[in-house]
Amino acid sequence: MTVPDSWVASGVVLLVLLAAAWYVRYVRWGRCRRLMARIPGPPGVPVLGNLLDLLHYREDIMDAFQVYHERYGSVVKAWIGPYYGVSVTDPRDIAVILNGRNILSKPIIYKPFTMVLGDSLLAADKETWKKFRKIMAPTLSIQVINDYISTFNEKCQAMTYQLEIHSQNLPFDVVNYTIKCFLEMVTETTMGVPMNNEGMNQKHFLTNLPKIVDILTYLIVSPWFWSTATFKFTQLYQTLMSLLRPVRDFVALIVKQKTSSYSYTSEEVISYEESDTNTSKQRQGFLDHMVATLSKKPGLFTVQQMIDQALLIVAAATDTSGYTVAHTLMLLGLHQDVQEKVFKEQEDIFGKDINRPVTVNDLNQMVYLEQVINESQRLYPTVPFVGRLLDDEISIDGYILPPGAIVIIPIFLVHKDPAYYPDPHVFDPERFNKENGASRPACSFIPFSSGRRMCLGRSYAYMAMKTMLSVMLRRFKILEYGSREDMDTFKFNFFLKLVNGYNIKIGPRNF
Ligand code: HEM
Repeated sequence: MTVPDSWVASGVVLLVLLAAAWYVRYVRWGRCRRLMARIPGPPGVPVLGNLLDLLHYREDIMDAFQVYHERYGSVVKAWIGPYYGVSVTDPRDIAVILNGRNILSKPIIYKPFTMVLGDSLLAADKETWKKFRKIMAPTLSIQVINDYISTFNEKCQAMTYQLEIHSQNLPFDVVNYTIKCFLEMVTETTMGVPMNNEGMNQKHFLTNLPKIVDILTYLIVSPWFWSTATFKFTQLYQTLMSLLRPVRDFVALIVKQKTSSYSYTSEEVISYEESDTNTSKQRQGFLDHMVATLSKKPGLFTVQQMIDQALLIVAAATDTSGYTVAHTLMLLGLHQDVQEKVFKEQEDIFGKDINRPVTVNDLNQMVYLEQVINESQRLYPTVPFVGRLLDDEISIDGYILPPGAIVIIPIFLVHKDPAYYPDPHVFDPERFNKENGASRPACSFIPFSSGRRMCLGRSYAYMAMKTMLSVMLRRFKILEYGSREDMDTFKFNFFLKLVNGYNIKIGPRNF
């Protein structure tokens, strides 16, 4: 009797599947368990792992990282059900992870972001990320951003006029002003759409975004929602969607205004890859370039994906920069000697002119101001964690981390390592002068992360933040108010947020 070919084929497939299952179960998982067992960390209970620890520290997740790193050292493991993770604080190990050419995937804890930001760079899978990063990276290059300086000046001047009502010595929360100003800057520059255009209502964006961030933060510390399928059955999902709708509509309107006002022939479309000799006039900002690319290569991506990326740029630029400037202003109020040094630098550049617009050349001369911003970001990094998913095994600090491991980098702890920052809680901008900065390993200061998947808007952020601070500090003096203890209590709200708010006092600057 002969056996039909289809039976043989089915038998072979079955054998291959069984072998694969055996490999996963006993070889890969077994090896993974053995490798993870060698890494120190809080003991877990069967099946749930460290879920109870997570629930215990849910509201103060940053405390958990601090406690466990103090107890177990610079590499700490934890696991929850099928997910296993490692937190790493040594800059040399961080360099292996963030600067590793192929460590580009984001772990499942970023999944909730896809409900809000779709296929945007922040949480996209590796292949989608590569495609969009290549298209978007040139649109935030220094040459492009240099052209934005007049908009930065205009928006920051307008903000300082609004702040005049506070120059009567009464404290006020400055962060709403800085965030709103960065929102206006980023939409007008990267999207090329002025905020005063008809129909542009930033109100929902500004009021809804913090509530959306609250929900996302809750999801990050709720492992049962990481896959998001279960979350979609909850009332909170409906709330998230209703908050999201006006925010996405706001960005969709920006995109629509751009697409409808744009008509060009394919010759006008500038390909960054094709032309090395682009003048700044030829170089396009983010949205122009996306629209142009799509018209040149229809089908390369969808309009929805363009909206996803636009929403990410706007969201990524506003809160991060707004909080960083607010921290810096608070610290300058508490450290009058540092403020005087910053002001002296401004006087050297601008003389007694409080109104002269900032130029790119001026920004390059604001070396001490940049040191101050860096020290502020060291103490209060607005993005306190970044994560990666390992696709392959890597070795750090004598341990082998298995594929599938979630690696978390608690930036706020990395920045307080006394080995690189003696008296780590002291505010001292001299840590970032040329000499001191050069003596530390690169990944000891990573407010924008590091490597191929680091922040795309780093240069934009520095130029915009320095312009804002220059315009403000020439007009106002930040008066002494409150104490450093007021800034000691912060919490993880995707961003690092001060619990007591961002209160400062300002007075007119007397020349
Ligand atoms: C002080 C201000 C800012 C800080 C501290 C900051 C920090 C960060 C951090 C830590 C990441 C995650 C990187 C990683 O996963 O390794 C990130 C991603 C990103 N940021 Fe920023 N950012 C700031 C301002 C901006 C601005 C102004 C823009 C745009 C104009 C921007 C656009 C982006 C984008 C597009 C990503 C995703 C990058 C990718 O995954 O390829 N950011 N940022």
